[in-house]
Amino acid sequence: MSNKRWRKRVLGDRRLAPETLMMGYGYDPFLSERSLKPPIFHTSTFVFRTAEDGKEFFELAYGLRQKRPNEEPGLIYSRINNPDLEMLEDRLAIWDEAEDNLVFASGMAAISTTLWAYARPGSVVVHSGPVYGGTDFLLKRILPQFGVNPIEFPAEGGIKAMEEAVERARELAPVAALFLETPANPTNGLIDIGRARALADGLSGPEGRRTVVIVDNTFLGPLFQTPIAHGADLVVTSLTKYVGGHSDLIAGGCSGTTAALDPIRGMRTILGTMCDPHTGWLLMRSLETLKLRMTAAAEGARKVAEFLSGHPRVASVWYLGFLPEDHPDRPLFERQCKSAGSTFAFEVKGGEPEAFAVLNRLEVIKLAVSLGGTETLASHPASMTHSDIPHEEQMRFGITPALIRLSVGIENPDDLIADLGQALKA
Ligand SMILES: Cc1ncc(COP(=O)(O)O)c(C=O)c1O
Repeated sequence: MSNKRWRKRVLGDRRLAPETLMMGYGYDPFLSERSLKPPIFHTSTFVFRTAEDGKEFFELAYGLRQKRPNEEPGLIYSRINNPDLEMLEDRLAIWDEAEDNLVFASGMAAISTTLWAYARPGSVVVHSGPVYGGTDFLLKRILPQFGVNPIEFPAEGGIKAMEEAVERARELAPVAALFLETPANPTNGLIDIGRARALADGLSGPEGRRTVVIVDNTFLGPLFQTPIAHGADLVVTSLTKYVGGHSDLIAGGCSGTTAALDPIRGMRTILGTMCDPHTGWLLMRSLETLKLRMTAAAEGARKVAEFLSGHPRVASVWYLGFLPEDHPDRPLFERQCKSAGSTFAFEVKGGEPEAFAVLNRLEVIKLAVSLGGTETLASHPASMTHSDIPHEEQMRFGITPALIRLSVGIENPDDLIADLGQALKA
């Protein structure tokens, strides 16, 4: 689909910025009737010029031989590869500062396929808590059915809690992965990726493999946090959120080195968890405005968080930008995150009835789960996204009945403030 000319990342000695590269990186218009934008390759399979070509393409795709210098994998079948997905993967890898990327049918498809590729019966996965409800279910209820056990540590427990969990794991079994969700959904708790890397280096995985550090970067990624630069092996992202950005698709991604992605690529081919070409095309369109959208949403979120923090009916606001100078997470926030982002939670005074009353009165802000879209969404983690997690555990993580999560979009922030004002006043 492309040649070197369409994969240029520098102009003279100037390195081109990701937002510039999103307009056409990896796409050769002269291979597609000079169409400025890539077509959607709505096809299940690709025609081989010769039987020998087909044989060669399969040999490479199935790892039966090494890739020759400058060889591009041949197109075979859309469960294995597809031009829209390959272009999208090239572009996502740029944002994640990774060698390569794989796209999936959902964030959960990315997370589960990645864990299937690295975990083995009798191994453990050390993970932070809280994690997204679906991930929590996968780690605690599904993987144990296959002999893979989770060891959890609380995000707010800091480095000490992570070190203790790793110590416990080391004594128990090979550690397949350290899985971190940072910032955590919905509490915005932070985990030190660099420290996780150092701890993983002292462990070994099943079958003598390296213990991989996997970071779920959905909350800030890919614009405001680049976990690979801090030592992560693999970065998983629900592309449904900020990257898709318009609440009109479901997809996921995983970035890393080509070698680290290899077993995941093989697993994706067999499980069939890849993204479809139309969704891939929509994601490429979304990537063109990613920086504009995420920057505008982050500016709006700050204004909304400032309004909420001064409101008499609000008990607390968990916005990363408000971390006090002397908070233990403050240096980590400054080192690891480039912005506070635009998803945060706040507690109303009272409990579930008071939180529900606010949610039910909102008029501009929509009552829906998910985040990272152009529109602002409000939800109730305890009874919605995190309702799978038992009540005592929710309380331990601070997911209280009074907690409301907001994903601030790109509307005029003063309209959002007016809406929250009327909902809180009534
Ligand atoms: C942090 C996080 N990770 C993963 C997911 C799962 O993504 P998807 O819904 O695209 O499967 C979500 C969804 O809300 C999430 O918030």
